[in-house]
Amino acid sequence: MNYSSNNNSRCTKEQNDSSSRPAIANNISTDSYDVIYLGYPIWWGDSPRIMLTFLDNHNLSGKTVIPFCTSGSSGIETSVSYFKSNYKDVNFLDGKRLNVSKNEVINWVNGLNY
Ligand SMILES: Cc1cc2nc3c(=O)[nH]c(=O)nc-3n(C[C@H](O)[C@H](O)[C@H](O)COP(=O)(O)O)c2cc1C
Repeated sequence: MNYSSNNNSRCTKEQNDSSSRPAIANNISTDSYDVIYLGYPIWWGDSPRIMLTFLDNHNLSGKTVIPFCTSGSSGIETSVSYFKSNYKDVNFLDGKRLNVSKNEVINWVNGLNY
């Protein structure tokens, strides 16, 4: 993971620029979904900027978005609170940081009842 400790790395530059919106390579249509699981790694305490590209470019109004993340130790709260304040027409759940076994992931998803 040496790219994470390099201040000139692409991911660090993107994270230091709050207006950065890296392009998403593939077209993703969310039209036919009411519930979307949004998964990402924590980079410098927050979601990678490309997640904001996704949120900016899709009309998720009225949809439920369920964030989940992996991280070394940081929580998911900072990223979810940013989502909630900046995309107010979307129903974000509090989400979950996953640092767990496959069974714990399955139990979490099943327990949500979506
Ligand atoms: C650029 C970069 C920044 C990161 N920043 C954080 C951080 O602030 N807090 C943290 O707990 N983990 C951080 N990580 C670790 C990633 O969240 C972790 O590598 C990712 O969730 C994938 O998990 P894995 O390495 O176990 O596959 C960072 C990783 C990278 C590449």
